[in-house]
Amino acid sequence: MRVLLIGSGGREHALAWKLAQSPLMTEFHAAPGNPGIAEHATLAPIDIDNHDAVVAFCNDKAIDFVVVGPEAPLVAGIADALRAADIAVFGPSAAAAQLEGSKGFTKDICARYNIPTGAYQRFNNAPKAKAYVRAQGAPIVVKADGLAAGKGVTVAMTIDEALAAIDDCFEGAFGEAGAEVVIEAYLDGEEASFFCLCDGKHVLALATAQDHKRVGDGDTGPNTGGMGAYSPAPVMTTEMVERTMKEIIEPTMRGMAESGHPFSGVFFAGLMITAKGPELIEYNVRFGDPECQVLMMRLKSDLLPLLYACANGTLDQVTAEWSEDPALTVVMASKGYPGSYAKNTPIAALPADGEGEKVFHAGTGLKDGALVATGGRVLNITATGKTVGEAKERAYALAGKVKWDNGFYRNDIGWRAVEREM
Ligand code: AMP
Ligand code: GLY
Repeated sequence: MRVLLIGSGGREHALAWKLAQSPLMTEFHAAPGNPGIAEHATLAPIDIDNHDAVVAFCNDKAIDFVVVGPEAPLVAGIADALRAADIAVFGPSAAAAQLEGSKGFTKDICARYNIPTGAYQRFNNAPKAKAYVRAQGAPIVVKADGLAAGKGVTVAMTIDEALAAIDDCFEGAFGEAGAEVVIEAYLDGEEASFFCLCDGKHVLALATAQDHKRVGDGDTGPNTGGMGAYSPAPVMTTEMVERTMKEIIEPTMRGMAESGHPFSGVFFAGLMITAKGPELIEYNVRFGDPECQVLMMRLKSDLLPLLYACANGTLDQVTAEWSEDPALTVVMASKGYPGSYAKNTPIAALPADGEGEKVFHAGTGLKDGALVATGGRVLNITATGKTVGEAKERAYALAGKVKWDNGFYRNDIGWRAVEREM
C-alpha cells in the first residue's frame, strides 16, 4: 500500500513509526513531516492547506491511502477533497469534524441522544450569557464555540471570572471561535481520554490515556497542548469503558449517521469520571498529542489495516491487541512555552532508542544539517514499564540524556497513577 501521512507533530511521528512497521506498506510519504518522521517516510514538499495540491500529489504518486493526523485540515475539509477524488482517507469529513470544530454542535447531539454531559446553553451575545451565569452561580465553565488551540475554555471558580471570560470571548480574544459561547455546568471528578475507531457503522474501542495539560509540576500554571501522558488510565476500569461505549460513543455514532454525516476516523472522547459515571467533556476527531505516542507504544497489532478499515467500512472485521505494560511520555518544550520562546535553539544530542524506549520528534527541524527546536513542544521522551512508576523512571532517565539547553519538562508526569500504585 502506498500511504501519505499528513502532519508534523509528535503524534504524527508516533503514527509514522508504527505505520512504517506494517508489512502492507510499500511506499511511505509524509507532508510536511519533521526530522523524526523523515526516518520512516519520504517528506513531500506540498502545502497541506492547498487541497488541490494534496490531491494532485496523491494522483501523481498513486497514493492508495491518506492518514490525516491533526484536526485543522479535517475541519478545513481535506478528507472531503480526497474522497471526491476517490482516494481512501483516514479522518472525518468537514461536516463530521464539527464534533471537534463546534462545541455547540456536540452539545446538541448530546442533548438529542441523551449522552451524559454537563448541562449547557449556547449564547451569541454577552448580556444573555452573563444573566445565565448569574442565575447558575459558580463554579461554571465558559467555552468559545470554535477551535481555539485549547485556550478557549475557562473553568471559572467565581462569577466574576466567568463574566470576564464572556467579555474576552465576545471582544474577540479567540477571533471567530468566540463569536458563540457555550456555558456549561462544572463537572467534578477525574479526567480521562478514551480513543475509539469508527467507520460510520461500527466502532472499535482502542485504549485509554491521561494527559497533563498544565505547564507546571503539580498541575499548576497555564494550559498547554499537553506536557505528558500515560496509558492506560487506571480510572477507566472495564466497567467505565463499557459504559462509555454504550452511553457515549455508540449514541454519537448513531447520531452522526442519522444526521447524514456518518463519522469515520478516531473518536477521542475527553471524559470526566464523576460520581455518576463517565460524562463527556468534549470530542476531538483525531488522536491526542501526546496521548497517541503512548498508545502507539502499547499497540501490538499492525496499525495500517486498523486505520484502513475505518476508510472502507470493515472495522467489524479487525481487532486491536494491546500490551498490558503501561507507557508514559514526557514532553520536552522550549523554555517560555506556552508563552513566547526562542526558535532554532540547538539540540546537541538525543539518546538512542532502546527496547521500549523511544524519542518522538514534535517541533524539530534541521538548520544547516543540525537538529534544532522549531516549536513549543519539541520532543516526546517515551518509555514502557511493568508499572506506570517504572515507565516513568525509564522515561525520565532517557530525558536526562537529552542535550538541549533551551528545553524543560515537568518532573511529575503520571503522578496520579504512581500514587495509586503505592
Ligand atoms: P476542553 O478544551 O473542552 O477539553 O476543556 C479544557 C479543559 O477544561 C478540560 O480538559 C477540563 O480540564 C476543563 N473542563 C472543560 N469542561 C469542563 C467542565 N464542564 N467541568 C470541569 N472542567 C472542565
Ligand atoms: N493532549 C490533548 C489533545 O491532543 O487535545
